[in-house]
Amino acid sequence: MYRIALIPGDGIGLEVVPAAATVLRAGGLPVEFVEVEAGFELFRRTGEALPRETLATVAACDAALFGAVSSPSTRTPGYASPILTLRKELDLYANIRPARSAPVAGSRPDIDLVIVRENTECLYVKQETEVEPGERVVAQRVITRRASARVARVACELALRRAPQRGKPPLLTVVHKANVLALSDGLFRTTALDVAAGTPGLAVEEQLVDSMVYRLIREPERYDVVVTTNLYGDIVSDAAAALVGGLGLAPSANVGDRFVLAEPVHGSAPDLAGKGIANPLATVSAAALLCAHLGETALAARLERAVDAVLRSGVVTPDLGGRATTQEVTHAVCREVETARAAYEIVGGARAAA
Ligand code: NAI
Ligand code: MG
Repeated sequence: MYRIALIPGDGIGLEVVPAAATVLRAGGLPVEFVEVEAGFELFRRTGEALPRETLATVAACDAALFGAVSSPSTRTPGYASPILTLRKELDLYANIRPARSAPVAGSRPDIDLVIVRENTECLYVKQETEVEPGERVVAQRVITRRASARVARVACELALRRAPQRGKPPLLTVVHKANVLALSDGLFRTTALDVAAGTPGLAVEEQLVDSMVYRLIREPERYDVVVTTNLYGDIVSDAAAALVGGLGLAPSANVGDRFVLAEPVHGSAPDLAGKGIANPLATVSAAALLCAHLGETALAARLERAVDAVLRSGVVTPDLGGRATTQEVTHAVCREVETARAAYEIVGGARAAA
């Protein structure tokens, strides 16, 4: 029995997390859900965005599924984004963001790549100083050898693990801007290239971040695993999501040595919140990543196939040109995983796998 924390957060997080939890149950995962509150609405109500007890509850679970939180673009004293705190406190140092072609009109074909984003430092240390009020602000960017090495290790291992299924030699692309930021990006670059050089059988290349975005859009099918710093990873992964059906489909997993917190790449989408039409599939795919990290690989694969089957059936939300609601899409995915689960149990999949 797994204990999984559900952290819906704000906006459409409140709609897509319950949807994905329903799908996990339909898939037959032996699970107890522990729902906890966090986010900007909670902060407005109570003055706390992520209470200590919430953090302790999440840490005591086997894994977590996170929705999204709203963050104001102006400085709000006392508010820190819960997702950044969770990543830091649980030491979830790598953010894994796959982008795979989807059977929808808006997706380009033959894309199967994963962006591995460093998750603990870079500009996200949020050390900003107002040197001259209203005139001059300085932001610190932190890059360390330790964080660069461990995220590079995750990326190298992932590239090797994916190779048999892809049927192609593994390729790691190290993305940086060391031509301008010779010290900080320079440290990330040399550290990642060193780790990669010690990984037998891995082809390694490097790419400046601006030309990475250009080539990603021109020839996305050439990429396999891409590793980069926190901010570049944030930006490049939204671009990658746009190539394969959009934010409504893009999942991610924050991983550390002992814990995984899966979440959709998208935010709280205030423009959609409460309308019942948010696409739940990014969060369902995030739940699949969560299952894979727990070692439930058969269920993970079944969830992915169910998502693809529903996309092909055309039962999709307005972001993909359809008219289905969040609930209708969720039910369609549940029907697919239940059918697959029944077939799996008939052929004795669970026993065969064990
Ligand atoms: P967003 O990702 O919430 O929305 C961007 C666009 O994509 C919107 O047009 C939205 O309607 C659409 N979209 C997003 N998810 C969708 C879904 N599941 N189905 C259909 N359409 C979807 O980004 P935005 O608008 O820039 O930010 C809104 C809030 O979310 C902000 O407060 C921001 O700080 C927060 N945010 C939180 C994140 C997190 O919690 N991890 C990540 C990104 C943003
Ligand atoms: Mg982002």
